[in-house]
This record gives sequence, C-alpha cells and structure tokens, in this order.
Amino acid sequence: MHPVHAPFPAMRLRRTRATPSIRALVRENALSVGDLIWPVFVRSGEGIEEPVPSMPGVMRRSVDKVAEAARAAADLGIGAMCVFPYTGLADRTEDCAGAWGPENPANRAIRAIKAAVPQMAVMSDVALDTYNINGHDGFVEDGIIVNDRTVEALVKMALAQANAGADIIGPSDMMDGRIGAIRTALEGAGHSDVMILSYAAKYASAFYGPFRDAVGASGALTGDKKTYQMDPANGDEALRLVARDLSEGADMVMVKPGLPYLDICRRVKDAFGAPTFAYQVSGEYAMIKAAGANGWIDEERVMMESLMAFKRAGCDGVLTYFAPDAAKVLSM
Ligand code: PBG
Repeated sequence: MHPVHAPFPAMRLRRTRATPSIRALVRENALSVGDLIWPVFVRSGEGIEEPVPSMPGVMRRSVDKVAEAARAAADLGIGAMCVFPYTGLADRTEDCAGAWGPENPANRAIRAIKAAVPQMAVMSDVALDTYNINGHDGFVEDGIIVNDRTVEALVKMALAQANAGADIIGPSDMMDGRIGAIRTALEGAGHSDVMILSYAAKYASAFYGPFRDAVGASGALTGDKKTYQMDPANGDEALRLVARDLSEGADMVMVKPGLPYLDICRRVKDAFGAPTFAYQVSGEYAMIKAAGANGWIDEERVMMESLMAFKRAGCDGVLTYFAPDAAKVLSM
C-alpha cells in the first residue's frame, strides 16, 4: 500500500462518508450469512430445549430438536453448524470412552442434522473434556495432562465423527501432533474429503466460562488448562502453531477467543493466507447479551459490529452463537 496524503482541502475524507449510497460504494468489508458457523449444544433425551442460564437465547437440545434447529437454520441461509455435547457426571469417566461412542449424543446429532438438511456442513468437536471425569481435554495421569495417549483417543473420536457424517473435524484440544494423526487416520479410513478446522491458536481464556456451564464441565474441571492452551500474552507462538497445524494437513485454522485476539487473526491471515476463522466464544456472547438486556448497549448493533470486526481483521468466517440472529438481520 502507498497511502497518498493530499493537503487539506484537496483531501476531505468526510466526502466519502456523506450518504448511505456513497458509504456503501466505498465499504471495504462485507459480512454474509455464508460466513457463519452456528455452534449448538446437544444432550440426551427427547423433545428437550433447555436454556443455558449464562447464555441467554442458547439452548441445550435433544437430538430431535437439534435436527429441527438445523432446518430452521437452513431456512435462514445458515450453511454450517458445529455440534457440542452436554454431558452429566454419569457420562464422564476416567477412560473417556464416551468420546468415541458411535451413539453418543454428538454423533447422533451429526447424523440427524445430515438426514434433516443434507447440504448443511456439520463440524464436530474433538477434545476429551466433555467425557472426562476431571474436565480436561486430555487424559490426566498423576496430575499431568498426557499428550500422546490423548492423541490416540482423539483419533478414535474424530473417526467416529467422520463415520457419523461430519464434514469438518474440529480438534479443540491443543495437544501436539493431533492434526497429523487425525489426517492420516481419516485418509486411511477413506474419509479423504473430510476437512479439519484446527483450533490452532486457542488461548487459556476466562472467556470460556459460560460454555463450561453449557456443556456441564464447570463443576468437573480441576485446575486450569494452561499446560495446553496458550498464554494470552503470546502472539508469535500463535503463528508457530498455525504453521505447524497447516503443515500437518489442517484445511482451515481458527483463532479463539475472537474479539480480544483480532490482532492474531490479522497476523495469521497475512502470514499464511489460509482459510481463517475466529470463534466468538461464550463469554463474548454473554457480555453482549447481558449489556443488551440491561439496555446499556444496542444489542443488535453491537452484535453486527462485532461480527464485522472479524471480517475486517481478515477472517473468512466466524463461529458465533449469534448466527441465527445475525442471519435474520442480514436478510432484512
Ligand atoms: C473444549 C472447548 C471449549 C470451548 C470449545 N471447546 C472450552 C474450553 O476449552 O474449556 C469454548 C467455547 C466457548 O467458550 O464458546 N474443548
């Protein structure tokens, strides 16, 4: 870029802001419904839509209701959903065997969405936390979150999701070596077209609080996730992680959380030019919802402004709990 500075009054930058049509002409970025991935929570049972208190408007749904929600999302033009399981203490074990059970609620939901709306791109979550008795994304041995044995389990989990029909595998666990291991296993099992969207730069963030309520992990988690998720003080490390995951076969990469890490989104996009996503996480959503409910901000405008910020920062798309609301605004 070669910015040119004409002296005032030759240059009056307000000229191109004068009317809606002029502003539309010079607008640099656009948000469309095709940019959105909608994360949903699935639980056991039938006919259930149970509100998550810390995420107003977000539900834990039984599989049948997830399928119904997929139809409604498709009607709004949403093309991608991401499935997270809610688990109770009874579903959590030390060996995390539920994680690769073909009939776990997440895998049943993946199948139900594909049956209801075949064109919906369905993304999965690969991490042990929702099946782990201690709430960690990996196995815990003597207080240590172990890497390599966890990766073997993650591979089984990813294969079960691909078998259920997932289009996009979403490893959110931050173990080392998992992308290559999952890619090799997918190829070996004939799932060569199944994509991997790697949670490549995932920070050890306090913004995940409401999500842990939503999936039932809040009470379960012992300690913190700082030995595998990133230090919020680091930026260069994010680039190393993204480079590593791309070199192991990730098709797309993610930065998470979203708004507090827009600098990372921009750096990742500029450095690699790969499909780059941000996750506007539960705490970001909850803050906007809470301030909106109090009348302290205009919720709809803040929602749209926050989503546009991701596009401006170079993201191709964004995972957001606002997806249905944003889709409605975009269709007006
Ligand atoms: C866990 C996982 C988390 C989120 C997605 N997958 C939480 C965590 O790492 O503790 C957070 C999503 C959100 O906060 O919206 N593997």
